[in-house]
Amino acid sequence: MNTEPDTISISRRRFLRWTATGGLLLAVTPLAYAAIGQSTPAVVNAALGNHDMHAGPAPVRKVFRNDLYAAIPRVPETLTVMPRPAGEEGLPPLVYAAQVEGRTVYNPTLVLRTGQRVQLKMHNALAEPTIVHWHGIDCDWRQAGHPSYQAAPGGTYQYDFTISNRAGTFWYHPHPHGLTAKQAHQGLAGFFIVRDAEEESLARQLGVILGQSDLPLVLHDRRTDTSGDAVYAPTATDKEMGLIGNTILCNGVKGGILDVPRSLVRLRLLNGSNARIFRVGFDMAGKPLPFHLIAVDGGFLPRPHAMQWVFLSPGERAEVVLDLAQVEPGTAITLVNRPFDSMHAEGGHGADASGSHGSPAGASIPAGNAGAHGAAEGAHGASANTPSHGSDQSTSSHGGSAHDASADTSPHGGGAHGSPPASGPAEGDAFSIVQLLVTSPAKGAPGVLPQSLPSRPEPRVKSSTPVRRFTLALTQHGTTRHWTMNGLTFDMKATPVVVEKRMPEIWEIINDAKSMPHPMHLHGYLFAVLGRSNSPAQVTEGGVDAQGRIPTDLGPKDTILVWPGETVRIHVDFGQGYPTEAQTFLFHCHNLEHEDAGMMLNVLVK
Ligand code: C2O
Ligand code: CU
Ligand code: CU
Repeated sequence: MNTEPDTISISRRRFLRWTATGGLLLAVTPLAYAAIGQSTPAVVNAALGNHDMHAGPAPVRKVFRNDLYAAIPRVPETLTVMPRPAGEEGLPPLVYAAQVEGRTVYNPTLVLRTGQRVQLKMHNALAEPTIVHWHGIDCDWRQAGHPSYQAAPGGTYQYDFTISNRAGTFWYHPHPHGLTAKQAHQGLAGFFIVRDAEEESLARQLGVILGQSDLPLVLHDRRTDTSGDAVYAPTATDKEMGLIGNTILCNGVKGGILDVPRSLVRLRLLNGSNARIFRVGFDMAGKPLPFHLIAVDGGFLPRPHAMQWVFLSPGERAEVVLDLAQVEPGTAITLVNRPFDSMHAEGGHGADASGSHGSPAGASIPAGNAGAHGAAEGAHGASANTPSHGSDQSTSSHGGSAHDASADTSPHGGGAHGSPPASGPAEGDAFSIVQLLVTSPAKGAPGVLPQSLPSRPEPRVKSSTPVRRFTLALTQHGTTRHWTMNGLTFDMKATPVVVEKRMPEIWEIINDAKSMPHPMHLHGYLFAVLGRSNSPAQVTEGGVDAQGRIPTDLGPKDTILVWPGETVRIHVDFGQGYPTEAQTFLFHCHNLEHEDAGMMLNVLVK
């Protein structure tokens, strides 16, 4: 039933380039291999000229740069981490730069194959330490960007590893000690796309071509000053809640428009924000446009899943297929954020210290503002969780109905959230992110969305599989408070999590009721989601099975969003092959302000 044979064709899709000088439209193909080695073709995109009316009387065709996030055909010898070059105001303050066939590409999209050897030297041209982490890639911990391997200013780090992952949309970003949030916010991130024979055959079936109708899109926010440049200066509230930017970007561009063919279109969505969660949807002519989810962080779902929206938290990926084969040329489709409750306010429940989440008293507390958070300080101290408290919660201390009673999940308007930026949408507000403009008519072979996808088998969970619990909570330490995991914060030398045997484990991640959402990420292993409990209504409404899972839980994950009060159970197979040397991976919150503040633990795999 999920299969919809469609005529599709690959027309040459283009991004548009807006020049500051005269509004000349330049057609470029930033993600296509074809663009490499060519200068920007200075051609007015005639095919689009007659759609300019859609943009109103003063059509401002916001554009994508063809040198930012461009796919490059081979792994560069050197990836330089550097401030943006002089005269490149359109770039973020910090970039990864690679030389490819005589030109420079920033934050290059690396396209690799399973089994390929990656030899790449990172050169740190910043004035502070950095290290590159290959998010979701199964590589030896010395290759995986552990902060203990960060390179000093002027230094280098030589990577050499072989890709064992199956096809998927991965990414890379900085991971230096205490500086990850800043460097990521200031621009450092790139796609790391792994392909294999199965994926390539699927792409042929879909009729999609990378860079034309198969588009990696990083959705992210930044806090910008009045000149529009990114400035990272988090307040105390930002550090506690995560920094919510006032500017919404796609592939580094605000208000972008990109052309898509009348065909099946595959979007590889990544949330590259420091802290902002998106609830991604698509609008066409004022109505939601359904789409199919085909893959998540580390690979495919068993089958495409028809959906109207998908939560995407920092670090997560979702691959979706839009069917635009029957759409009139000139139609604009908007990739939007659908409103949701950011649940930043859950700390406000600190006032009812019993933890009876969803009690009338709790529900009557205003749905979140900085003041409520401040006022809750004392009560938060009382919520300092120990692992044993966590295991109480994991059983039955509050049922689904209690959670449903938490009236604070009702939608509320902008500005009511924990840390609204001076201007720009709060987390959970409705806003548009990027426009897809349907252009040329279909040509070529029609694409088909198959009923089954090259997924991985579900894990065989045994009753003997050991269970390890992590409780996430805001913990008072003297006069300060920190987000903690089992009451702990990061210590570079400590290994509080020891995996004695390279065997499967069940991890139960329990988010305190008086909390906020935490996107939890594990290095070194993809995992399977076994189930969710005590999920908020905005999650359960998308539920697909008796285990409380949602569609994004049905494929291999490396980052999982855990809502306040919620428990998520995952299955991690530590049996996968790494060198016999003990491996030190990380388990952390991908809200990068939380990560830098220590919401991260070493995981020693013996
Ligand atoms: Cu994408 Cu340790 O992070
Ligand atoms: Cu990672
Ligand atoms: Cu967090």
